[in-house]
Amino acid sequence: MGACRVGLVGAGGVAQRHARVLAGFEDVELIGVTDVAPEAARALAEPYGARVFRDVEELLAAGPDAVYVCVPPFAHGPVEEAVVAAGVPMFVEKPVAADLETAERIAALVHGRGLLTGVGHHWRYLHVVEEARRLLADRPVRMVNGAWLDKVPPVAWWARRDRSGGPVVEQAAHVLDLVRLLAGEVTEVSAYADGSPPPVDGADIDSVTAATLRFASGAVGTLAAACVLTWKHRAGVEILADGLALSLGEDGLTVRDGDDERHVPVDPDDARVAVDRAFVDAVRGIGDDVRVPYAEALRTHRLALAVAESAATGRPVALPTGPAARLAGAGVTVDA
Ligand SMILES: NC(=O)c1ccc[n+]([C@@H]2O[C@H](COP(=O)([O-])OP(=O)(O)OC[C@H]3O[C@@H](n4cnc5c(N)ncnc54)[C@H](O)[C@@H]3O)[C@@H](O)[C@H]2O)c1
Repeated sequence: MGACRVGLVGAGGVAQRHARVLAGFEDVELIGVTDVAPEAARALAEPYGARVFRDVEELLAAGPDAVYVCVPPFAHGPVEEAVVAAGVPMFVEKPVAADLETAERIAALVHGRGLLTGVGHHWRYLHVVEEARRLLADRPVRMVNGAWLDKVPPVAWWARRDRSGGPVVEQAAHVLDLVRLLAGEVTEVSAYADGSPPPVDGADIDSVTAATLRFASGAVGTLAAACVLTWKHRAGVEILADGLALSLGEDGLTVRDGDDERHVPVDPDDARVAVDRAFVDAVRGIGDDVRVPYAEALRTHRLALAVAESAATGRPVALPTGPAARLAGAGVTVDA
C-alpha cells in the first residue's frame, strides 16, 4: 500500500482532531470529508486540500482504505452499514451509538464481514495504563471508584437523551472502558440519577448519576457522573488493591504504596495520536495494536447503557459475562 487513503464522515470537533493527527502522519492521505452540514465539511476539508463528498456513498466510491465515523451518537447506524457493506476498515468514535439495538446490529455486520475496526476509547493508549496493569498484575482489585465530573459540552445534541444517550453513555464511557480493562467485567449495576436536567435549552438528561458496580471478580465499585459544573473537575478512576491505591486519569497516574506516593504525568495528546497511529498501522498491515475493536467497545457500551437503564427504572440491571458476553460482543445473540 502507498499512502493510506482516509475519508472522514462527520466534520465536527472530534473529526477536526483526527484530521489534524492523521494529516501529521507521512503515510496518510486525507482524501475527503462528508457531513450533513456541507459547510462543516468544507471548513474541515479546505486546509488539507481534501475533497468534500456529497454523502457516504460518494466518499466510498472514491475508494478509501479506511473511513473514520465521527458523527454524534444518534447518527450512527446507516453510515456504518454502508462502510461495512463496502468492506472498508472503519474507525468509529465512541459511543458507538445512543442505543443498544444499533450497536448490536453493527457489531453483527462487522463480525459477519470480519472487518478491521477501531473505536475512539483512546484512554487505553495512555502509557500509564500499562503501568497500572503491571502494578495490578499480582494484586487483585478490591474496589474501583470512577468519576466524570464536568460541564455540559457545547454541542446542541449532548443534553438530549435520545441524541446522546446521556452523560454516562456519552462521556463517562471512557472511564467505564478503563474500569473494564483494569478490574474486569461488571456483572450487575444499580444506579440513581436526579431526573433533573442541567439548565441548557431542550435538556432532558440527568444532571448527576451515582452507580454501584459489582464485578465478576468479587470487587465492588462506584461511578459518579455529573454535568453541573462550569469546568472539567475530574475524570478518571481510583483503584484499591491490597496495600495499593492508584488514581488514573488523562493527566497521569498517582501510585500510593504504603508511605510512598509518586505521580507519573502524561500528555493526553500522546494517547490521541497513538490511537490513530495504531489504527492506520493495522489498516496498512504493519501493526496489530488496535486495543478497542467494535466488539470490545460494544461491551463498554452495554455497561454504560445498563447504568443508564438502572437509573431510569430504579432497578438493578444484570450484564452477561464470560463466554456469553464475548459472543454477544462479537454480535452473536445470546440469552444470558
Ligand atoms: N474520543 C474522544 O476523546 C472524543 C472527543 C470528542 C468527541 N468524541 C465523540 O465524537 C462524536 C462526535 O462529537 P463532536 O464533538 O465531533 O460532535 P459535533 O457536533 O462537533 O460534530 C458532529 C458532526 O457530525 C455531523 N453529522 C451528524 N449526522 C451526520 C451524518 N448522518 N452523516 C454525516 N455527518 C453527520 C454534524 O453535522 C457535525 O458536523 C461524539 O460521539 C463524541 O462523544 C470523542
